[in-house]
Amino acid sequence: MDGKIRVETMVSGYRDAMVLVAALKTGIFESLGTAARTPAGLATDLNLDTRAVDIVVHALAASGILIKAGDTFSIDPEVRPYLLADSPDTMASLLGHNVRMMAGWLQLPTVLRTGKQAPRDKTTPEEMRDFICGMENVSRLSSLEVVDKVDFTSAEKLLDLGGGPGTAAITFCGANPDLKAVVFDLEGPVGIGAEQIKAAGMEDRITTVAGDFHTNDYGSDFDVVYISNIIHMLSEEETRGIFRRSRACLKPGGQILVKDFFLEDNRLEPAFAAQFSVNMLAMTAGGKSYTLTETLELLKETGFGEFSSIPVAKGSQVVCGYRES
Ligand SMILES: C[S@@+](CC[C@H](N)C(=O)[O-])C[C@H]1O[C@@H](n2cnc3c(N)ncnc32)[C@H](O)[C@@H]1O
Repeated sequence: MDGKIRVETMVSGYRDAMVLVAALKTGIFESLGTAARTPAGLATDLNLDTRAVDIVVHALAASGILIKAGDTFSIDPEVRPYLLADSPDTMASLLGHNVRMMAGWLQLPTVLRTGKQAPRDKTTPEEMRDFICGMENVSRLSSLEVVDKVDFTSAEKLLDLGGGPGTAAITFCGANPDLKAVVFDLEGPVGIGAEQIKAAGMEDRITTVAGDFHTNDYGSDFDVVYISNIIHMLSEEETRGIFRRSRACLKPGGQILVKDFFLEDNRLEPAFAAQFSVNMLAMTAGGKSYTLTETLELLKETGFGEFSSIPVAKGSQVVCGYRES
């Protein structure tokens, strides 16, 4: 691809993203469901402007998200499972959460000047639900992969730190009948976790604890601490802090599992992790995508050893270590 086309492609990338989240947020995908509808019909049902809907659905059809037949539009069956909220494969919450991230990315020039995260309004309850349920959309498959690759059979008690929707705890306990788990998270998110645990019928084996992982203790006598997609939100000092607290809550010889999108030492690969680091620059005070080497160093400094790593979905890895006595 020549330079001009590469630049044009990069700078217009926002268009597909914006039109997708606009259709999601206005209910166009939910209203279409499995049906074929006209722009006027959609506009009437959703109380939208007919001309605007007509233009947007044509753009979505041009991008292959909708299929146009005569004067009706339907969702391409290949993408439908990911767009509809009640589908088991839904990514709807994650797409909704992206709207908030886009607002942060728009402020990148300011972030570059100040070195501070993008200023933002207080998170609304709807945004918080999109974020936490979006994490479920992300962690659903990777948790299945982790439970397939990590042996939890000798563990009795696991801490899912910053466990949000409880996806990992539910998956790990589902596959290991003798395992009990605690999901530790802030008050609002842990309430959503409790809903998911109840829906999975696991209240007798998974409990929730509301707390701040920077300042509260995590409990005691855990065999495993699972820390998934957390350290990328944190500075190195904050990461040391949660590793120290994790060590303190583990039995001697207990296991720490840190799952994240780790960068190679050149900090270019995987490209997704290099880009995700910008996301954390915009959205957090000190977060970034860590390299595997940096993570191992932080774990060593805080009293862990015997390391190994397991590749999982979408370029993520799980770093395994053990509490040294
Ligand atoms: C990116 S999500 C990861 C959720 C889950 N571990 C996963 O992999 O799907 C980060 C989680 O950390 C939680 N969190 C953020 N700050 C926290 C804090 N100070 N104390 C406890 N949990 C926190 C968020 O509420 C959210 O659930």
